Amino acid sequence: MLDNLGNLERTHSCGALRPGDVGKRVTLMGWVARRRDFGELTFIDLRDRDGVTQVVLNSEDAPAAHAKAKDVRGEYVLAVTGEVTLREESQRNVKLATGEVEVHARELLVLNDARTLPFQLETASNDSLASEDLRLKYRYLDLRRPQLQANLRLRHRMLREIRSYMDEQGFTELETPILIKSTPEGARDYIVPSRVQPGKFFALPQSPQLFKQLCMIAGLDKYFQIARCFRDEDLRADRQPEFTQLDVELSFATLDQIYSITEGLFARVFKLIGVELPLPFPRFTYAEAMRRWGSDKPDLRVAGMELQDLTPTLQGTDFAPYAAALAGGGVVKGIVLRGGATLSRKTLDDLQEFAKRYGAAGLAWIKLGDETTSSLLKPLGEEGVGKLAATASAAKGDAVLIVAGKSKVVAASLGALRNELARREKLIPANVYSPLWVTEFPMFEYHEDDDRYYAMHHPFTSPVDEDLSLLERAVDGGETDLLGQIRTKAYDPVINGVELASGSIRIHRRDVQRLVFKALGMTTEEARARFGFFLDALEFGTPPHGGIAPGIERLVMVLIGTENIRDVMAFPKTASATDLMIDAPGEVDQKQLDELHLKIVDKV
Ligand code: AMO
Repeated sequence: MLDNLGNLERTHSCGALRPGDVGKRVTLMGWVARRRDFGELTFIDLRDRDGVTQVVLNSEDAPAAHAKAKDVRGEYVLAVTGEVTLREESQRNVKLATGEVEVHARELLVLNDARTLPFQLETASNDSLASEDLRLKYRYLDLRRPQLQANLRLRHRMLREIRSYMDEQGFTELETPILIKSTPEGARDYIVPSRVQPGKFFALPQSPQLFKQLCMIAGLDKYFQIARCFRDEDLRADRQPEFTQLDVELSFATLDQIYSITEGLFARVFKLIGVELPLPFPRFTYAEAMRRWGSDKPDLRVAGMELQDLTPTLQGTDFAPYAAALAGGGVVKGIVLRGGATLSRKTLDDLQEFAKRYGAAGLAWIKLGDETTSSLLKPLGEEGVGKLAATASAAKGDAVLIVAGKSKVVAASLGALRNELARREKLIPANVYSPLWVTEFPMFEYHEDDDRYYAMHHPFTSPVDEDLSLLERAVDGGETDLLGQIRTKAYDPVINGVELASGSIRIHRRDVQRLVFKALGMTTEEARARFGFFLDALEFGTPPHGGIAPGIERLVMVLIGTENIRDVMAFPKTASATDLMIDAPGEVDQKQLDELHLKIVDKV
């Protein structure tokens, strides 16, 4: 028989009681985390979002409550009224905030029962958790775990901090529509059919990019939004099909102003975990970041391990793979692992496989142990290997790991290898936060598969002033190859190897915007069909403007130090973009399809 709550009110949460409360009559409500039965005495650990309190039911003092507690099981919902007492010295639990006290129950209400859970909530470590799929199916149960609740509360506190900071900086919070036309951010759109306009579709925003620019054209000057974004893209541990951005835009802004507002925001957010971020963040151009760390989001917690260019030393080599790489305009680069001479053959093989995943043809190595060993001894000889090691500034005891090929592939594989080695060799210091800006991203990226250029960021990003003439020459003068050389006023803040945000100064001139659409292979008609409204708006006095969009989930991930985005969202989706709890996406009735004028022609 279940009891009614009636008018009974909680006096304290399950995490609140301390020795100072001894003697008080209290009422707690929560879930049964654990129940132990010792005959005359029953102990219940009662849990709510705040913590756990030990409740004691004694057959002598409270026979009715004690009897009732016999039937209580894990996750039953209880209300307990009783007296706070000090635990005996030997029974104190220093790991628990409430561990010095317990509540001697006088009355017990069983507000609800619970089936046996499909998995255990209390586990020794994250490693012993039930499978993630099972936990996602019963997400509301997994969310009862204190760790997840703490993550979501930190997210809440961060959003509150962000709102007050943006307000103090003079920004206005606005909401832009969810049912819109496609905005290109590089992923596929989620689309929504229109019932009243057969054959037409809305797209869900990949970001509010164009709307925020329109807000600047409207003279709103400083805008922000905690915006939900939707992207149908390949998912990874740090990506979800729906996620949240702090979307920001401001008019008449210089790069320095945007950097300083963003740094102030991050500093404020990191204070929540007691961290003073070093300000200002150092700035590196994209070209420098790629050259030194092989990455546009380098983890600067890892000291050194910069890419060493071995190309000049190998000029004129007759070692076929390197000669071919150099002849094709490629490079040979290496990284030095201090103390790496002890790496085993097996580890080197593993690392080679790892580098291949990033496109490397192979991974050569030199180990400067008591004697020098190297996979390059045969083709390059002792002298050649010695020269390479010296060029890489490797010393006795070190290892050099070397990749040859196109500079993009060499950077990608060595950049990833740098992170992998840092992880394996435990070179990443704990509790260190290393922020930086990566600036001047290239405007366009060439894709070999379909032999054309794509916008690296999005097509509304302004080129740096000096490179505007390159854009004109490339588009109007037919010198297409110049597209790859154009730098932009785009910037990403990175902390500990995580890209936390992206932003740029935008194009505010219609002639420049047209050139970019043209460079992307869009005809005037296509550009009009997709972005006519925006091209029109650019004709009515658009102020110079720029902005940025930090990923809310990414920020919380760095704050709590997790690599799994699902740890910082209440109801995330799986890697195949499904919601296992509500079983979405799902089928719809024929009637709904008919109303939407849709016909399924092919079902998998
Ligand atoms: P961008 O596409 O780089 O830029 O996104 C900005 C930031 O949003 C986060 N992010 C994601 N987080 C979780 N899951 C995803 N699938 C996902 N995709 C992106 C990242 C990223 O840095 N309109 C521009 C911003 C601008 O120019 O102002 C934009 O959306 O933290």
